[in-house]
Amino acid sequence: MNITIERVAEEELKPLYSDPNQLGFGKVFTDHMFTITYHKGKGWVEPKISKYEPFQIDPAAVVLHYSQEIFEGLKAYVTDDGRILLFRPEANAKRMYDSAIRMCMEPLPVEMFVEAIETLVNLDKKWIPRAPGTSLYIRPTLIGLGSALGVHPADEYMFYVILSPVAAYFKEGFKPISLYVEDTYIRAAIGGVGNAKTGGNYAASLLAAAKAQEKGFSQVLWLDAKERKYVEEVGAMNIFFVIGKKLVTPNLGGSILPGITRASVIELARSLGYEVEERLISIDEIIDGVNQGTVTEAFGTGTAAVISPVGSLYYKEHDYKINNYQVGPITQELYTKLTDIQYGREKDQFGWVKEIGRL
Ligand code: PLP
Ligand code: COI
Repeated sequence: MNITIERVAEEELKPLYSDPNQLGFGKVFTDHMFTITYHKGKGWVEPKISKYEPFQIDPAAVVLHYSQEIFEGLKAYVTDDGRILLFRPEANAKRMYDSAIRMCMEPLPVEMFVEAIETLVNLDKKWIPRAPGTSLYIRPTLIGLGSALGVHPADEYMFYVILSPVAAYFKEGFKPISLYVEDTYIRAAIGGVGNAKTGGNYAASLLAAAKAQEKGFSQVLWLDAKERKYVEEVGAMNIFFVIGKKLVTPNLGGSILPGITRASVIELARSLGYEVEERLISIDEIIDGVNQGTVTEAFGTGTAAVISPVGSLYYKEHDYKINNYQVGPITQELYTKLTDIQYGREKDQFGWVKEIGRL
């Protein structure tokens, strides 16, 4: 790609955050963004990095009416010796490609996705925070533009990337969170778009999440759409349970997001000698196991959430504590190993991290 770079003038640069630990998640944005548009007949044109600022789109754009939108989430990290690493960017690019196909959108080639991110992150590298547990969150987004109210796929698209220096996703940090097992609302059904990373899935989840949060829970644990019987995933994470010495996680049946952290944890755990099962898991099996002491740990996995210990499940008016609301040893081990790879503290035997520059 021949990316046009319009740097923000020195006097217009934003002041850098002062305390990285106070960043929260997704509230601060860097100086620049990447944009590229697709026009039928012309292909992808005008790749550009320019000032992070509001842009105009037609009020009749397809994204605003029929939600033709997909996004991704990945992170950049700085190592102690100043190298800049991305974690599995090609995996995010491929997932976005698949999401685009499912949402009948023009997919962006994998190489363009990766090049856009590498170039933008290097330009705004001073924004990558270095405090423990912080990183630069990268949000690639694809939207359907055009100007027509008929229900059709857009004939024009914009792909853009914005960057946000972040601390922990949950205010608790790396501490157990409590989940509300949702048995009324559902997130996605098989045959729907649950396995695509599209904004509508999140819009559909907001009411249940808000109700759970009102009651003091961090997020909901979704059950399957048909029977409200099988565990699916959490609002912004996949879910794992430790049962005996085994790790057990729901299989990718089409209604849950194929998490990149999920896939990485499965591979990592197997390399550490754990048996991992991907299968249907009924909520009754989990509740019985918690009661009998065979379910000893639970944790969520996600780019934003990393590995997040789950301390309790609230189901049908009862609160079930897992491991006495403490971080379990396997959760801790996997968290340490994964973040050691992501922050370049440990050799990456999997080929996951990609060095893209230096501070
Ligand atoms: N499930 C949902 C609904 C999510 O939003 C996310 C976050 O991206 C995940 C799972 C975890 O996916 P990943 O590990 O690729 O970030
Ligand atoms: C991520 O982990 O990247 C997510 O997309 C989760 C959430 C912020 C939507």
